Amino acid sequence: MNIEWGNVREQFPVLQEWVYLNSASFGPLPRCALEAMERHNRRRDEQACVDFVSWFDDADRVREMAAALIGAAPADIAFIPNTATALGWMVQGLKLKPGDRVVALEDEFPNNTYFGHVLARRGAEFVEVPLEGGEFSLDRFCAAIDARTRLVLMSAVNYSTGLRPPVEEIGDYLRRRGVGFYLDATQGLGALRLDVSRVQADVVAAHGYKWLLTPAGIGFAYVRPEVREWLEPCVYSWRSHKDWRQVDVLHHGPPELPAEAQKYEGGLQNFPGIYAMGAVLEMMLELGPAEIEKRVKELGECCREVLRKAGARLLCDRLSYYDSPILAAEFPGADASRLAVELRKQKVVVAARHGYLRVSPHFFNSEEDLERLGAALTGRSSP
Ligand SMILES: Cc1ncc(COP(=O)(O)O)c(C=O)c1O
Repeated sequence: MNIEWGNVREQFPVLQEWVYLNSASFGPLPRCALEAMERHNRRRDEQACVDFVSWFDDADRVREMAAALIGAAPADIAFIPNTATALGWMVQGLKLKPGDRVVALEDEFPNNTYFGHVLARRGAEFVEVPLEGGEFSLDRFCAAIDARTRLVLMSAVNYSTGLRPPVEEIGDYLRRRGVGFYLDATQGLGALRLDVSRVQADVVAAHGYKWLLTPAGIGFAYVRPEVREWLEPCVYSWRSHKDWRQVDVLHHGPPELPAEAQKYEGGLQNFPGIYAMGAVLEMMLELGPAEIEKRVKELGECCREVLRKAGARLLCDRLSYYDSPILAAEFPGADASRLAVELRKQKVVVAARHGYLRVSPHFFNSEEDLERLGAALTGRSSP
C-alpha cells in the first residue's frame, strides 16, 4: 500500500504549530477522535440518552477493533480507565501469599515497581532484575525466576530508556513454568505491532493516551481466556450479571458473571473516550499496523541520524534490545531538562527523563520535523 503520509498529517492540528516528538508522554488527538467525541455528545442531546444501551453496541465494535489490533478475540478485551486498574485486577486476583516472588526489571515504570513494593510489605518477595550498564540479559532474567515466582510485571517498551525486552521469548519461558505474566503495552502499542498469541502474556494492558492517540482515561486490556476462568473481578456492578442489557429489569439475585473480559469493567464506561478510541483504531487498522510500524521505524532511523549529527550519544547505539521509537539521547556537558525547555521555546516538543533527552517520533511525524529538531539542536546555546 502506498500511503500519503502528508495527508495523514492533516489529521493532527497540533502539527500546524509544533514539531511534536513526544508521543511517549501524550499522543496528539487526531481530528477523527475529536469528531467522534463531538458526535457522541451531540447524540446524547438529540436522543435524550434514551438509546444508551446502543452505545454499548458501538463499544463492542470498538472492542472488535482493539482485538484485531493485537490478534485477540473481542471476548478477550476489557476497557480500562488506565493500566493501573488492569494491573490491580491481575495482582489482587492472584491472591499472593507470603513467600511468593514477584519479578520486574530494574527501572520499570512506577506502576509496576510500586505494586511490587506494596506486595513485599505484605510478605511477598519483590525482585528487580538488574540491567547491568542498561543491558538486558535473558539469562539474568531467567535466573531470577524460581519455583516461588508467581508473577512478572513488565513494560513492552521502557518509558524512559526505550528498552524493548524480547517479550515473546520471555512469555514463552514464563508460560512453560506456569508463571503469571502482566505486560504493559502503553509504550509502543499503536506504533509497534503486538500479537498476543506470540507474546503469551496473561494480561496485556495499554492506556490509549500515548501511542494509541486517544484522550486520557481510556484504554483496553487483553485477559487470556484461561486466566478468565480463575481471575475474579475486583469490582462488581449492575453489569456483573450476564443479562445486564435488559436494563428495565436489573435485579438478578446473585450475579451470573459474563464469561467475557467485560466482566472486569465494572459499571458505566467512558463513552466519549471509547468513541474516540474507536475512531483512532479504525484509522490505524485502515492504514495497517505493519505500514505504521514500517513508517515508525523509518522515522526512528532518521531521528537517530539527526541526533547523532547534533552530537548525541544514543543508548540504542551501544546496547542491544533498544530498537524502539523511544530514543534516549545524552548530550555530553548538557543538561537534558534544560535542553528540553530550550527546544520547547523553538516549538520542538521532546521530554527529559532521568538525564536523557527523550525523543519519541510517531507515524504522523515527517522527515521535515526531524530536520527542524536537528536545526534546533545545532543552533542551541551552549550548555
Ligand atoms: C509504561 C507505562 N504504563 C503506564 C503509564 C500510565 O499509567 P496509567 O495507565 O496507570 O495512568 C505510563 C505513563 O507514562 C507508562 O509509561
